[in-house]
Amino acid sequence: MQTKIVRKIKESHDTVSLELELSPSILNEFKSGQYLDLEFEINGKLYVRPYSVSSISDSSKAWITVKKINKGIVSNYIFDVLKEFDQIQFKKVNGKFFVVPNHSTRKAYYFIAAGVGITPIKSMIHSLLENEPTSLVHLFYANKTQEDILFYPLWLEWKEKYRDQFFVEFILSKSENTGGFFSFLSKKSNTWNGLKGRINELQLNRFLNEHPSQELESHFYICGPEEFNQSISSILKKSVPPSQIHLEYFHIEQSADTNFSPSGKKSHLKVKLRGKDYEFEIDQSKKIIDLLVEKKLNPPYSCSSGACATCIAKLHEGKVKMDVSMALDQEEIDQNWILSCQSRVISDTASIEFME
Ligand code: FES
Repeated sequence: MQTKIVRKIKESHDTVSLELELSPSILNEFKSGQYLDLEFEINGKLYVRPYSVSSISDSSKAWITVKKINKGIVSNYIFDVLKEFDQIQFKKVNGKFFVVPNHSTRKAYYFIAAGVGITPIKSMIHSLLENEPTSLVHLFYANKTQEDILFYPLWLEWKEKYRDQFFVEFILSKSENTGGFFSFLSKKSNTWNGLKGRINELQLNRFLNEHPSQELESHFYICGPEEFNQSISSILKKSVPPSQIHLEYFHIEQSADTNFSPSGKKSHLKVKLRGKDYEFEIDQSKKIIDLLVEKKLNPPYSCSSGACATCIAKLHEGKVKMDVSMALDQEEIDQNWILSCQSRVISDTASIEFME
C-alpha cells in the first residue's frame, strides 16, 4: 500500500521526522510504541526497514523519526532524497514493544532510552500522559551532546504541563556542546549544567531512588543500542522480575549491503515459505534472506540487523552461522530458531522453514 509523506522536518543535524498519511484503519491497528515496516526502492533494489512511530496511537497522524547512519543506504535516502508528497510503500504495523493505556490503571513506568531509541518511547509516554492520568511516568534519557537530545522542547513542556505525573532527566556523555547550527536554532546554551556521563548502575539506582514508585506496580521500558539495553536490563534484573522489563533494540541500519563477496563454497538449501518448498544452491558467504530477496520470494524481514525477529525461521537440518542474534534468547537458539537476515549456511545441506 502506498503512503504519502505529508511533512518532513529536521529534528537535529542527523535526524529527520516524516509525517505519513495512513488510513484510519491502519492507525486504529497501531499501538503506541510499535513501528511500521516500510519498503523503499533505491537504484532498482528493494529495501524493507522498520521505523518506530513517535506519535500516539489515537492520533490522526503517524510520524516516524529517522537517524542518518554513515553509509546507511536507506537512512541516507530518506534524509537526502525523499521530500514532501513523495510516496513510499507501507507494508505493515509491527512490534511487541508497546503500551495500551487504561484510564483506571495506576502504575509506575520507567523509560530508559539512548539516542534515537527515544522514538517509540515518546509515543508511549505521550499516550500514557493523555490516557492514564494517575500513573507515574519517568524518563531517563542518555545522549552524547545536548544537540542530540531529540524532542528536547517537548520534554520540558510536558515536565511543566504534567508536573505531578511526568519526571525526566537527561545525561550527556560528551557535555561540551559543539555550538553547531542546530544548537543556535534551538537556542540551547553551549554549556550543560545537567548530568554528565552514562547511565551506569550508580546513576540508574540514584534515578530510581530519587523517583520512587510509591509502591505501585512498576514497569521498565528500555530502548537503545544492544550494549545499552543489555547493560540496563542486567542491572534491573538484580531487583526486578523479568516480566516487568521490556526491551526494544534500536534498529541500526547496516551499511553492509555491498559487503558480500562469494566464498566459492556452495551449500544446498531447502526452504519452506508460506507452504511452498524451494531448493537453492547458496554461497556460504551469503545471508539467507539476501538470496530469498534476490529470488523475489518476498520473505518476511524488516530490520536486517538481527533486532526484530521478523525473519525468524526454524532450522530443521544442517548448520548456520549467525552474525547477530540479539532478537533471540538462548532458549530459542537452543531450539534451532534462526534469524535468516543474519544467517549463512555452513554445512553442505540445510533446511529451514519460515513460520509466517
Ligand atoms: S529482519 Fe529483523 S532480525 Fe532479521
